[in-house]
Amino acid sequence: MIGHGHGKLILCGEHAVVYGHPAIAMAVDRGTTVRLVERPGPTAATDATIDDPRLPTALRAVLPDQGFGVEIRTDLPIGRGMGSSAALAVALVRADASRRGEALDADALWERAMAVERVFHGNPSGLDHALSARGGLARYTRPAPGHRPTLEPLPLPTWGIVVLDSGAAGDTAAMVAGVASRRPAIDRDLARIGALVDEAQAALADTRALGALLDENHALLRMIGVSTPRLDELVALARRAGAAGAKLAGAGGGGVVLALADEPDAVLSAVLKAGASAFRCAIAP
Ligand code: PMV
Repeated sequence: MIGHGHGKLILCGEHAVVYGHPAIAMAVDRGTTVRLVERPGPTAATDATIDDPRLPTALRAVLPDQGFGVEIRTDLPIGRGMGSSAALAVALVRADASRRGEALDADALWERAMAVERVFHGNPSGLDHALSARGGLARYTRPAPGHRPTLEPLPLPTWGIVVLDSGAAGDTAAMVAGVASRRPAIDRDLARIGALVDEAQAALADTRALGALLDENHALLRMIGVSTPRLDELVALARRAGAAGAKLAGAGGGGVVLALADEPDAVLSAVLKAGASAFRCAIAP
């Protein structure tokens, strides 16, 4: 009765993806494992790895109300745009399917994990848990209600990723609601983010061109109001450290910056030397 979900990083297209534009994201080599233990009494988490008041509701979205202790282990930073809630959602659904001896297809897994993501995010695009379940690098488009998502696998790239942590958690539901409240004035920016994702897909093998598109994506995310002074500082630091491009990744308002580089170890040591909290992240195939 064990399930696992990967964390994720959004290469480009966050927020615009909520409104039907494409996004490109990757599953990362960090994630969340859930183990169910039968025991009498109400179903509840048995440790405090994830200290979130929405957790009991999230557990009830998948598991029976009674009879299980839920052990949650994660090496993802929580609330940092690395898909901790999506990884939890996928791990929970998989653990529950294994409890019932049920083989889950990708669409059923996506649909059930969506119920958990709604608890945390309000209006999730479904991107995070699609990647969390599938692994790899992929282009995602949100389906119309009642339809299946399209997830197009992309070749694994040669560039690497350095993640710089702002140290602050962002509230995804609040950031998504803030973007919604600024529409339609920002719809042109959202459409440009969508077009930029197409250009990024064509430039996946060209680190410099892709890096420039990530820089533009960050500027657009600033324009739609989801960056912070600290995230802008980290983006600038990553570029000074030799990254080909950098942007905030995830909902913003805190969380992490993703820096793209052909020589990620050199970028990592330069940003660490400058005092940032940072680490390498690999794509989970
Ligand atoms: O901050 P995260 O990891 O939850 O990413 C959210 C991505 C958004 O595009 C902002 C929302 C969504 O549901 O796609």
